[in-house]
Amino acid sequence: MELQASICFLFFTFTFTTVFFLFSLSLFIIRLNPCNCDICTAFITRSWTTEFVNLSDWYTHLLRKSPTGTIHIHVLNNIITANPDNVEYMLKTNFGNYPKGKAFSSILGDLLGRGIFNVDGSCWNFQRKLASVELGSLSIRSHALNILGDEIQSRLIPLFTSVADNEDAVLDLQDVFRRFSFDGICKFSFGLDPGSLKPSLPVSELESAFDLSSKLCAERSMAPSTLVWKIKRLFNMGSERTLKSSINIVKRKADQVIKKRREMGSNSSNDLLSRFMGSISDDDMLRDIVISFLLAGRDTVASALTSFFLLLSQNPKVLNKIREESDRVIGSTRETVPSFEELKYLHYLHAALHESMRLYPPVQFDSKFTKQDDVLPDGTFVKRGSRVTYHPYAMGRMERIWGADSLEFKPERWIRDGEFKQESAYKYPVYQGGVRVCLGKELSLVEMKSVALCLIRRFDVRVVNPNQLRFAPGLTATVSGGLHAVVRRREYCV
Ligand code: HEM
Repeated sequence: MELQASICFLFFTFTFTTVFFLFSLSLFIIRLNPCNCDICTAFITRSWTTEFVNLSDWYTHLLRKSPTGTIHIHVLNNIITANPDNVEYMLKTNFGNYPKGKAFSSILGDLLGRGIFNVDGSCWNFQRKLASVELGSLSIRSHALNILGDEIQSRLIPLFTSVADNEDAVLDLQDVFRRFSFDGICKFSFGLDPGSLKPSLPVSELESAFDLSSKLCAERSMAPSTLVWKIKRLFNMGSERTLKSSINIVKRKADQVIKKRREMGSNSSNDLLSRFMGSISDDDMLRDIVISFLLAGRDTVASALTSFFLLLSQNPKVLNKIREESDRVIGSTRETVPSFEELKYLHYLHAALHESMRLYPPVQFDSKFTKQDDVLPDGTFVKRGSRVTYHPYAMGRMERIWGADSLEFKPERWIRDGEFKQESAYKYPVYQGGVRVCLGKELSLVEMKSVALCLIRRFDVRVVNPNQLRFAPGLTATVSGGLHAVVRRREYCV
């Protein structure tokens, strides 16, 4: 009887898996609009991989060649642009026609719910207004600086020091910056300290569940058809089963914090959650908002810091100029984290960070879905429902935007008369731009400048494998295999 049951079970599993596989395959084939243009053929056959390491590098190559700075991947119904006029049009002039759209929000919906990052229309508008007021307040800024100072002094510097004192040790910079930014954004958003950067580098349950959730959500977007992951979700199978349980962990943790905070009263803390509590009574909505902040503020900062240290390791002259400037502005012996005011005078450092994100933007591309038929300023016709992607990674490498030296790391291009000069957000949409520009821009720059300064002044950091970066697929640029470095104390430093 038992044997019969096992055979039945095996038979059922085998049949179901085969049917599911065939179904996915046929969806994949159906979805491919028949097109045999060179670009679509290279995309389908993946022949681009013989010449390029990353998909973004291939798109960059195509966009540089395109007279309009725009290409169309017909099989994906995806228009990709690196044309600043088009970017301005979709992010500002005709913003209403280019929402995130249902396709995007369903991919991240299980994790982010109705959080700001994942909604359009009035729900987005309400959160945007609320968050803009809160993030603009002086008290939240000083709260952020306190968190930052504490995390740098009590965790980041001791960790670097212990690695510097061990001759054989190599540090994965990306891993360290991810831990650092996760601790910071959790404390800032809902007053929770996951302790990821403690000396033993523990794997916190929240961090691993959050990482797995965002990775699996990103993988959804790569499925040949949304039906593939939706069916897997319906039957609670494979990666969708794992996704569900990791999302549950993230939500459960957030719910616990919200419940406790309600009991203690919203005045008991200074974080974003307490501030939002005053205006929002729906706890599910509160949870969705703080989870959106975790996603927005964590990997982006870690990614930007990782590539910044890679570029500094490859460009010692820039590193020296940053050190000279900081010695001049804040003195060579100061041990504490620089103040908000002092950071404002570090024009060269500010320029170097912008230059680094020009070449390695943390969000390499970002897509919208067209509501109504439209024509972009460069003449490209956009059919209703198509996906339109602006591509900061390609834009940073376009000669027609940045000149013949576009591939060189030159912070000086951002300096005029000794001061930092901002470029148009549509030429440099690293923080997006227009109506939905990133809300954490100022905060992230303060965070990155503080970390960079505190490390650069104390340590020499040399990346050991500075070859061409291979990026792992995901929502934010992440280097496959990490970025390993040797750390040494600077002899004459504090
Ligand atoms: C180097 C660091 C950062 C970069 C490059 C960056 C970039 C971006 C980009 C490209 C978007 C638009 C995404 C989209 O609409 O699909 C965005 C949105 C957003 N960012 Fe950032 N971000 C950074 C750091 C932060 C931080 C630290 C926070 C929070 C403290 C934050 C909060 C947000 C929020 C709330 C949004 C959604 C805005 C809206 O939809 O109205 N970001 N960011």
